[in-house]
Amino acid sequence: MLAEMDGPTRDAAAALRREIGAPGGGPDRLRLLPTPLVPEVRLHVAEDAILWWARMEADAGHRLPAPYWASAWAGGQALARYLLDHPRVAAGRRVLDLATGSGLVAIAAALTGAARVQASDIDPYAVAAVGLNADANRVAVDATATDLLDTDGGDVDLLLAGDVFYDRPMADRVLPFLERVAGRGVDVLVGDPGRGYLPEERLEPVAVYRVPSTEPAVESSVRQVRIMRPRRRPG
Ligand SMILES: C[S@@+](CC[C@H](N)C(=O)[O-])C[C@H]1O[C@@H](n2cnc3c(N)ncnc32)[C@H](O)[C@@H]1O
Repeated sequence: MLAEMDGPTRDAAAALRREIGAPGGGPDRLRLLPTPLVPEVRLHVAEDAILWWARMEADAGHRLPAPYWASAWAGGQALARYLLDHPRVAAGRRVLDLATGSGLVAIAAALTGAARVQASDIDPYAVAAVGLNADANRVAVDATATDLLDTDGGDVDLLLAGDVFYDRPMADRVLPFLERVAGRGVDVLVGDPGRGYLPEERLEPVAVYRVPSTEPAVESSVRQVRIMRPRRRPG
């Protein structure tokens, strides 16, 4: 990881390193596993992220953000698969993976030869996990905890966003950001399994994948996930 870590990210990275190094196993532990649809990428994931979260909160003695980074989300899995299946999409380009979680999509972009990969997530644990996961896959990802949603995305050629329409406040901020960045001529790709806040009418499909689900609290074991991009808007 290239960026200097802030205090919360440093503390999170230390906690994750302790977790990974601790002896023993169980569903509430982190394990380095191949990702179901993207076995080229190994991630530190929790078999049961809710149990992991409960134990970490009990140890810390205070609330911690939900560990979205401890699962490979269906939208991110499909987007990472798409990049690896179409290596020219990211090769040689400056890439930003928004709301990176585990870093799966960013790592896939790096594996296909992106010139530079940045990743953003507001959860310091996610930023720490991206560093550990990038190291495990021997790639460089520059992760930041800075919230970029009110910016123009910076110097990038390709913006990626896996599973970002999972709640209303996030969807309301992400869509204008994606459209603003696409409006500057940047390629934008989204991976989404039909979440409730997906703005269908503002996006057009690019590809479809069937993704084995590893998410907590999902009943179906396979989800249909679309890769989409913002529609060009008149004017
Ligand atoms: C459902 S997870 C998806 C993670 C990853 N993209 C994937 O597909 O596996 C959504 C992520 O968005 C992050 N997030 C929420 N608000 C954000 C913001 N304003 N900027 C960047 N990330 C954000 C959360 O911390 C979480 O890691």
